[in-house]
Amino acid sequence: MIMPDVRQRVMLAPYTTLKVGGPAEYFAIAKSEEEMAALAGFARERGLEFTVIGGGSNILVSDDGIQGLVVKNEIKGVSSEVDGERVFLKAGSGEIWDDVVAHSVEAGWWGLENLSAIPGTVGATPVQNVGAYGIEVGEVIASVRVLDITTGEISEIPATDCRFGYRDSVFKNEAGRDLIILSVTYVLSRMPAPRLHYRDLEARFAEHGPVQVSVSKVRAVVMDIRSGKFPDWKNIGTAGSFFKNPIVSVSDHERLVDIYPGLPAYTDGEGRMKLSLGWILDHVCALRGYREGNVGLYERQALVLVNRGGATASEIKNFSKKIREKVFEKTDIEIEMEVRMLGFDESNSKK
Ligand code: EPU
Repeated sequence: MIMPDVRQRVMLAPYTTLKVGGPAEYFAIAKSEEEMAALAGFARERGLEFTVIGGGSNILVSDDGIQGLVVKNEIKGVSSEVDGERVFLKAGSGEIWDDVVAHSVEAGWWGLENLSAIPGTVGATPVQNVGAYGIEVGEVIASVRVLDITTGEISEIPATDCRFGYRDSVFKNEAGRDLIILSVTYVLSRMPAPRLHYRDLEARFAEHGPVQVSVSKVRAVVMDIRSGKFPDWKNIGTAGSFFKNPIVSVSDHERLVDIYPGLPAYTDGEGRMKLSLGWILDHVCALRGYREGNVGLYERQALVLVNRGGATASEIKNFSKKIREKVFEKTDIEIEMEVRMLGFDESNSKK
């Protein structure tokens, strides 16, 4: 059995892009499926909570840290298999997501290019069904290989059983509570399949008139749009969008558009409307760039919360509560966090 070092009281802040959070009671790094399985066994035998982190780019860790064993996933490996016009690209869950996107774009394969420059690892993509610029990763996932930490069994879950929703999947819910993602297989296209309907992308391609759209061009444009809106997480503490865009009934949407004309909204495909919370925070609540102490909403994208340096998790939590209240005051809508909270009472680490 390959057993990595397990250390005690390791500070987690450096392992998160928000740069906050207290210690893990126990901490280890898993570099292979075997190591992940051995660590799951270690936690099981001792009755410890088991929490896996990837790039730490979508989590808020409490100041008290996380009880039990926290494992940083560094399971690597990328392989591909061509099947006619399709390519099945399999990546270890600890691979850096954007390296995998870059690799697929260099090979000329279509499917991941709109999801360029998103921080984090492969394993996080199915968990929260990462989405950007008109695509959600669940649309290009073929299957997910998982370890059940209660039994130690490994199995392959087809995408149709992953219950992908808006920033949601089986892995975020009770049914997937004991499943650890080991690798993800994406199904890509060798034939051009541009997806340019998202407003910002459409506008950028329209500026240049009819151009030959290549997969690398789409990646370049997405990276350029993102760099104008998102802070560089290597220099500024952030976890991307801090809240989800609220999904409301058609009548709530109509009520709000009456009061706030211009509010961008999209159908969610299921008879409800997804509203742009960034726009609401900016144009309705005037909170773009708003700051309290060490925490603020980014000047160029109000949905992005930033740690201006030295913020604590409780400061961020209180700040986000205030933002929720301000949005509710103006819109009567209750917003939800997009970032996953770990080590708080209401958070859900693996058993
Ligand atoms: N807007 C403003 N002011 C702002 C922010 C946004 O007016 O301060 C307006 C924009 O002009 C636009 C609309 O609101 O009309 C939507 O903004 P944007 O296109 O930037 O996207 P978003 O809805 O704010 C979502 C995802 C992002 C993803 C982008 C691009 C969520 C929670 N966020 O943001 O995902 O990158 O679309 O597709 O769904 C993440 O999940 O962490 C994330 C960054």
